[in-house]
Amino acid sequence: MSEVKNVSIHGQWSSRWAFILAATGSAVGLGNIWKFPYITGEYGGGAFVLVYLVSVALIGIPIMMAEVMLGRRGRQSPINTMRYLAKAEGRHGIWSWIGWMGVLAGFLILSYYSVIAGWALAYVFRTGSGAIQAVGSAGIRNIFTELVSDPERLLAWHTIFMVMTMVVVARGVKNGLETAVRYLMPALLILLLILVGYAMNTGHFYEAVDFLFKPDFSKLTGGAILTAMGHAFFTLSLGMGAIMVYGSYLPDNASIARTSIIISIADTAVALLAGLAIFPIVFSFPELSPGAGPGLIFQTLPMAFAQMPGGLIFGTLFFILIVVAAWTSSISLIEPAVAWLIENRGMTRIMAAVWCGVATWLVGIATVLSFSKWAFDFNFLGTVKHNGVFDILDILTANIMLPAGGFLIAIFAGWMMKEKHSREELALGYSYTVWQFLIKYIAPALVLVVILNLFEVI
Ligand code: TRP
Repeated sequence: MSEVKNVSIHGQWSSRWAFILAATGSAVGLGNIWKFPYITGEYGGGAFVLVYLVSVALIGIPIMMAEVMLGRRGRQSPINTMRYLAKAEGRHGIWSWIGWMGVLAGFLILSYYSVIAGWALAYVFRTGSGAIQAVGSAGIRNIFTELVSDPERLLAWHTIFMVMTMVVVARGVKNGLETAVRYLMPALLILLLILVGYAMNTGHFYEAVDFLFKPDFSKLTGGAILTAMGHAFFTLSLGMGAIMVYGSYLPDNASIARTSIIISIADTAVALLAGLAIFPIVFSFPELSPGAGPGLIFQTLPMAFAQMPGGLIFGTLFFILIVVAAWTSSISLIEPAVAWLIENRGMTRIMAAVWCGVATWLVGIATVLSFSKWAFDFNFLGTVKHNGVFDILDILTANIMLPAGGFLIAIFAGWMMKEKHSREELALGYSYTVWQFLIKYIAPALVLVVILNLFEVI
């Protein structure tokens, strides 16, 4: 297992662009269109957004480069990559735990991710059938409440989405992934721009711009800072080996820095556009509140689609594209586990995909029930959460496991690996020093400070 070739046994991207598209496909997903707006709304806007943007720049980009670099050097699943690299660098085998923790985080995230993607699937049909056109704003909110309080329906959509994910994973990264991303991501961007154009005419556009970009630091609680930083990991797919496993399929001659920066900018742009599309609509309906929680986009966007010319078509298309964005992300959540099963258990790709799919599907049932039978309120650092297990899974993964994984990746890449090796792999020339400074000191220190601050240690 420790012999490394220049190409992964699982295949390789056909070009640098294929990698950029696939990694962008992984990064751009529900995190941008569903989660970013709703947590921004919950945590009060501008100041939260600022912390998120700073985290992307100072923590996200250097850690993304580190993940791609480790992946490409290891050329295996994250568990085996970390084991191999630890040995090659003369370090303890315990570093492979980064890979194990990542596999667990990926499972847990996908388990609820698939349920939410199921909501988007349901909305393809809710909008496509014209159901939202006739009912008015109260009716639109009812449609949402009815959907999430019906575990049977949620389970059905969750099942369909899991099957979709497994089909692509079973076909392998290249065949399954590249084509989906190449055409559908640009389409999503165009549709978002159309929606922003619509939002500009609601008369509340500047209110939304203020909300998103004018920081009110009095709203910046410890919980808000942690959530913003955790979201930087989540939205860039960092901290659990997804980008590492994609990096292991990257050709040797591609520039890691340039690709990472392009991916991060694209991901951030999509999130900000989603915010600019959604908040003007929120502010133009007095009965809607930015803090509505996970249902935010499902209660606001249909209002716009119900009113705008061609709304039926745009709405349907938009939810289709959200599903696709979620689809290209979900495969990266499970790919590290699948790659490991193939390497270490000698499974075929199809069998590995089926096992992982079934396990994730089962865990997902907890989220299905979180919006009805298993719903309960609890207080998380100043914000009241209403959706029991779902919220706990989200906090555990995005706010704890991903930052912890990212921290360890930064320590390994910055301190455990010989400088000669990271220099060689990154091939950065002069700017290597900038990356080195960020990965050794800034990124790990910021993660630590945010976490310590939370426990009021500092
Ligand atoms: N980044 C994706 C999103 O924003 C979700 C995702 C895919 C992810 N792969 C990941 C999150 C790995 C964390 C880790 O929707």
